[in-house]
Amino acid sequence: MCGIVGYVGPKEALPILINGLKRLEYRGYDSAGVALLNGELTIKKKAGKVSDLESVLRPETLQGTVGIGHTRWATHGEPNDTNAHPHSDQRGEIALIHNGVIENYAAIKKTLESEGYTFHTQTDTEVLVQLVRFFYDRVGSMETAFRQALKQVVGTYGVAMLSKMEPGRIYAARNGSPLALGIGDGEYVVASDASAIVQHTRQVIYLGDREMAILDRDRYVTKTIDDEVVNKQIEEITFDIEQIERGGYDHFMLKEIFEQPETIRNAMRGRLNLEESTVRLGGLRTVTNKLRDARRIIILGCGTSWHAGLVGEYMLEQIAGIPVEVEYASEFRYRDPILYKDDIVIAISQSGETADTLAALREAKRHGATTLGIVNVVGSSIARETDAGVYSHAGPEIGVASTKAFTSQLTVLSLMTVMLARMRRMGAAEGAHILKALTELPEKVEYTLARAEQVQKIAHEIASTQNALYLGRGYNFPVALEGALKLKEISYIHAEGYPAAEMKHGPIALIDANMPVVFIAPKDDIYDKIVTNIQEVRARSGRVIAIATEGDTRIESLAEHVIYVPETHPFLSPILNVLPLQLLSYYVALQRGCNVDQPRNLAKSVTVE
Ligand code: G6P
Repeated sequence: MCGIVGYVGPKEALPILINGLKRLEYRGYDSAGVALLNGELTIKKKAGKVSDLESVLRPETLQGTVGIGHTRWATHGEPNDTNAHPHSDQRGEIALIHNGVIENYAAIKKTLESEGYTFHTQTDTEVLVQLVRFFYDRVGSMETAFRQALKQVVGTYGVAMLSKMEPGRIYAARNGSPLALGIGDGEYVVASDASAIVQHTRQVIYLGDREMAILDRDRYVTKTIDDEVVNKQIEEITFDIEQIERGGYDHFMLKEIFEQPETIRNAMRGRLNLEESTVRLGGLRTVTNKLRDARRIIILGCGTSWHAGLVGEYMLEQIAGIPVEVEYASEFRYRDPILYKDDIVIAISQSGETADTLAALREAKRHGATTLGIVNVVGSSIARETDAGVYSHAGPEIGVASTKAFTSQLTVLSLMTVMLARMRRMGAAEGAHILKALTELPEKVEYTLARAEQVQKIAHEIASTQNALYLGRGYNFPVALEGALKLKEISYIHAEGYPAAEMKHGPIALIDANMPVVFIAPKDDIYDKIVTNIQEVRARSGRVIAIATEGDTRIESLAEHVIYVPETHPFLSPILNVLPLQLLSYYVALQRGCNVDQPRNLAKSVTVE
């Protein structure tokens, strides 16, 4: 949700900013802009992608070794050139970029207008930079003005600011929106996340809420916006540059789909205790007893992470015997939830920065619940604020449609399930049986993905339609939701996921010869039920695509197309069944000429509520 980057050092800033913006573009791509200091302050901005900005830039007129850049996901004001960041004060001497929402911008704007300030954009960000100017004109110190302005603000921000008055300096601050500070050798890069930093340095500081940094070429200071100096720990970036490049694939999404054998392996690495037929999760050591005695687990998440939570509910209830509730974080945070001290709340998030998930987690903490995270991005806000947690270790996920992060989340949930089940009610023999299934999983993922071509061949069945239905039961009901979400997100086809039996209570009315229906129909103990549902669709001329277990020949007479996946333990089947659905949405989007990695209106990391 908006990407910000800033550079201070000996090199020309523009190429570093543009490169950083390209890395951060997954956060939003409504407009892009840069500001450079070179005696004068020059701002260039443009609606559209970073490449649109690049095409209108004349680098020879944009020199300077201090600069900031922004890629926008619009909240206030339509995505045009004017509303693009950076924004500046009315004298054009201060430039500021912002990720987040200034909730009280209207009130501040009114006050500033009564002081004679005029506004040229519809953004909340312009209000902030004008407010800095307002204070600067009164106190004569840019730092004090920056801090005072931030103290007036209600809402969230990751900001970076520079000014003509202090030509070698960047101010940066964070409240609710992520901000990392790369500490190089005589240079600093500030950015929304480490992907824009790793090329320059692996040393990084993650700013906390209401913290700020002042970056000069030869030194930096971190403090709170209340002016108390804080000595932040320098951390090491844990991924490599290759991981955030496309590596020969046409799209990040495809690369990430094909990384899944490895990412699932990574999610399990060092965590299977074959000797004791259980799972060892170091990040949960401090809460083992609480987990064993938990009366209830509440899982919170948004989007794909919420779908992972739904699968987790089936896993944890059926195998570990713990009651589970899964909630949309955005609903949970505002509905006065009833929580008990012995509740365990698990926040699932790829980015670890989703605003609603973070706020819901804080709400749970306020009620005294023990909070855990299943998070992918190391050092992210949710990872830092939970009492304990398990990293999903999928590596950086750049494609806006989540794929490998989902299967890693499911893998971690399955590990947690086994650990809890073994502490509570599962015998060693069953534990060993499940661990074997887990060990075999990456190879089965590989095997399933090797059939991508077959999926590609049937993509046309869906590519020419306006609607599609995804149906599954039990563990695979959430997979139906996820398959439908993937299709919606990147190919803009209206798709619904439903529990297969529930189809009779509404969606069946939509079925005719033009409606493709994707059934997730593994050979499990409710297989016969889903076969009945398939027949109900066929009886109404619906076109059936089935995801089925290898060796199930019966289904071939019922479905127009069958995509086989290998057999596995039922609770792991979502991990295999979702793979063809990811591929299907990818190939459908390609056939429709959609921008797979940057679907319209979406952003990967939603840091506004
Ligand atoms: C956005 C992304 C989704 C993601 C959701 C939750 O909507 O486009 O892919 O599932 O946010 O994100 P999180 O980082 O919390 O998993």
